[in-house]
Amino acid sequence: MRLFTAIELPESIREMLMEAVRPLKAACPDASWVRAENLHVTLKFLGEVPESQVKEVCDSLERVSVTGTARVAVGGLEFFPPRGPVRVIVLGLNGEVELIHRIFREVDRTTADIGFLSESRPFVPHITLARARRTIHGSARKTLPPLLRWAGSPPTFDVTSFSLIESKLGSGGPQYLRLASFPTK
Ligand code: 2AM
Repeated sequence: MRLFTAIELPESIREMLMEAVRPLKAACPDASWVRAENLHVTLKFLGEVPESQVKEVCDSLERVSVTGTARVAVGGLEFFPPRGPVRVIVLGLNGEVELIHRIFREVDRTTADIGFLSESRPFVPHITLARARRTIHGSARKTLPPLLRWAGSPPTFDVTSFSLIESKLGSGGPQYLRLASFPTK
């Protein structure tokens, strides 16, 4: 099973994101835009995990001990990699993001203890909006940001838990299934 850990977004936020992203989608129709129900903040990607190991993964995630909750605001449009042709279009996060970093560090540590290697890249919390099918022209870095408009200030949401999610790959795009949810303490 293909597994990852993530912070899920409330449905109301996902709907607001879809609404705000509509003009960007129209301007960049060749990219593969993430469906509303699939918008999330990835923590650690675990990859292929045998079904027989899922309990061990859940037990390790139970050991994540992060206290408190955080109010996070949706940030600006960002592009990966930072220069040249665009591979991924994301939204950054603002506000009390330190809690997300703390959850990530604990998830990373406790799953590394059972054999899931850490990524060498630094963790940058984000919401992926679109991935390039081939590449997205670098000019998108200038043309897309002014198209992102919020009715009022950018939406905020509370982080109170993280989830273990299965990604089922299919021809209509991935389907994400929550296997377990772990509240902060
Ligand atoms: P990202 O696009 O938010 O950065 C589920 O597939 C999530 O896991 C994706 O949203 C992606 O995060 C991340 N992911 C998918 N494949 C990955 C890989 N091979 N290595 C690291 N992260 C991956």
